[in-house]
Amino acid sequence: MKFKYLTAALAAAVFTFGLSAAQAADKDVIDYRQNLMKSLGAHAAGLGAIAQNKVPYGDNLAHHADAIAAAAEAARLAFKENLPGGTAAANIWEEWEDFDNRFAALAVAGREVAAAARSGGMAEAGPKMGGLFICKSCHDTYRTE
Ligand code: HEC
Repeated sequence: MKFKYLTAALAAAVFTFGLSAAQAADKDVIDYRQNLMKSLGAHAAGLGAIAQNKVPYGDNLAHHADAIAAAAEAARLAFKENLPGGTAAANIWEEWEDFDNRFAALAVAGREVAAAARSGGMAEAGPKMGGLFICKSCHDTYRTE
């Protein structure tokens, strides 16, 4: 039953996408990019819980780092349209290159941490994690609150 609903939802999504790919509603764009940012928050929290030894899931370190890289990469396109809203400040699109470079750097850092985690676990990934903690400086510069 569940599967049937999912199939219907997917079919509707594909249909809608085909119809209006070029004219997304502002609210949908803002929801989309906020969801990406929430996933960044969720995976950063997962990584933190592992790094602080709160959960014994060290083998997941690389997955969280990969997910951070993927969300950061996806955010570059999600924020491209000049659309202040949510808590995104208007200066994002005045300083687009700087803003975009920060997500690019976060994606690189995520991939580096994932590679280090795969080759040497926490011992190797730990020293590389600094590159992931660029969230606050971007929020301080490019969010309205
Ligand atoms: C390049 C700049 C940039 C970087 C880097 C960045 N963020 Fe964000 N973040 C934003 C902006 C802009 C918003 C506001 C989005 C909106 O409201 O449309 C935001 C919003 C958020 C939100 C709130 C989403 C919501 O529900 O409204 C969370 C959570 C978040 N970021 C987490 C993170 C984490 C965790 C990191 C680091 C791993 C990070 N961000 C890195 C720019 C950035």
